[in-house]
Amino acid sequence: MTRAGAFFESLPIPIIQAPMVGASTPAMTLAVSQAGGLGTLAAGAMAPAEIEAEITALKAEGDRPFAVNLLMTEPASPDASVVDAALARLAPWYEARGLPVPAAPNDFAPDFEAQLAAIVRAAPPAASFTFSILTPEQVRALRERDILVVGTATTVAEARAWAEVGADAVCAQGFEAGGHRGSFLAPTEESLVGTMALVPLLRQAVDIPVIAAGGIMDGRGVAAALALGAAAVQMGTAFLLSDQTGVSPPWRRALETVGDDATRLTRAFSGRHARGVENDFMRRMRPVEAEVPAYPVQNRLTQPLRAAAGRMGDPEVISLWAGQAVKLTGPGEAGELVRRWWDEAKAVAKALAARTER
Ligand SMILES: Cc1cc2nc3c(=O)[nH]c(=O)nc-3n(C[C@H](O)[C@H](O)[C@H](O)COP(=O)(O)O)c2cc1C
Repeated sequence: MTRAGAFFESLPIPIIQAPMVGASTPAMTLAVSQAGGLGTLAAGAMAPAEIEAEITALKAEGDRPFAVNLLMTEPASPDASVVDAALARLAPWYEARGLPVPAAPNDFAPDFEAQLAAIVRAAPPAASFTFSILTPEQVRALRERDILVVGTATTVAEARAWAEVGADAVCAQGFEAGGHRGSFLAPTEESLVGTMALVPLLRQAVDIPVIAAGGIMDGRGVAAALALGAAAVQMGTAFLLSDQTGVSPPWRRALETVGDDATRLTRAFSGRHARGVENDFMRRMRPVEAEVPAYPVQNRLTQPLRAAAGRMGDPEVISLWAGQAVKLTGPGEAGELVRRWWDEAKAVAKALAARTER
């Protein structure tokens, strides 16, 4: 068995808590790992020193494995005119809430190379990556430190690319998934494969373990994904109302009162397609969303607006990231949820065995 195969086999519960910048917390990561799953620290927005400190703190809690996740963002240096036009488009949203329109920022996203170096130094048990692909040298540097490397793929071609650079495992992220997805070879419109199709397609295409993500909300989804050949599942939206959530009160209320078929894809908030509960900002920006500057520029320009709205209790301008099955999400302690989903998955497997043996 490969190193990654053994890693996932050794997890008492094959459930990974998805990294969620702005929504998951180190406390959630710890609770899931201690329950026997694999918690993931969302380090995408963290400075290198913070990444090292958080990894050191998680390691000090014991020997349960955990993962750390980075967003692979290219440095952006947009023309001033692009930034000015984008800020002019956003100005009415800031002004309507009595907020100053921000000045053009100097930087738009954390330095990925420095974040990666922090992970190599701090050596967590596993690291996952999204939005792009590592070089073989970067993968080697991680593996030399005994860090399991997981790439994110939304198409078969992306999974093959991760296998070729030497990744240990690949996360098959279906179209159902909440938040941003990891597409990096083709535009979003050409990367809309659902989890049910993507997992077996990747199993057929690559020899490394496949993790299923997107639309998995409880033990039924866990059992279904394992039946499709996944080595583990990665769940995000299902943790958003857990005791350890980091979502703001208005985001929480929006999730608690969500309607049927509530989510949409939008690039209005960040300049990169992401799935969230539809609100006023998404609806009214729709006619111009193709024109907003690409990630991370738009993401940075809307950030103060979203943060202020979180404090002011205004859900209409917050990026309410959530997956298609958000209506199935509910409260609970994160470790308790993981144990419950695994019990449910085992019950589903037993019921299926009874059914097929009739
Ligand atoms: C609020 C939110 C934030 C997310 N942030 C990240 C992130 O920082 N890094 C990442 O790789 N994926 C991120 N994702 C995607 C998750 O890793 C995962 O693929 C997704 O949640 C799975 O679909 P589900 O939400 O239907 O469970 C995020 C998802 C959500 C809902």
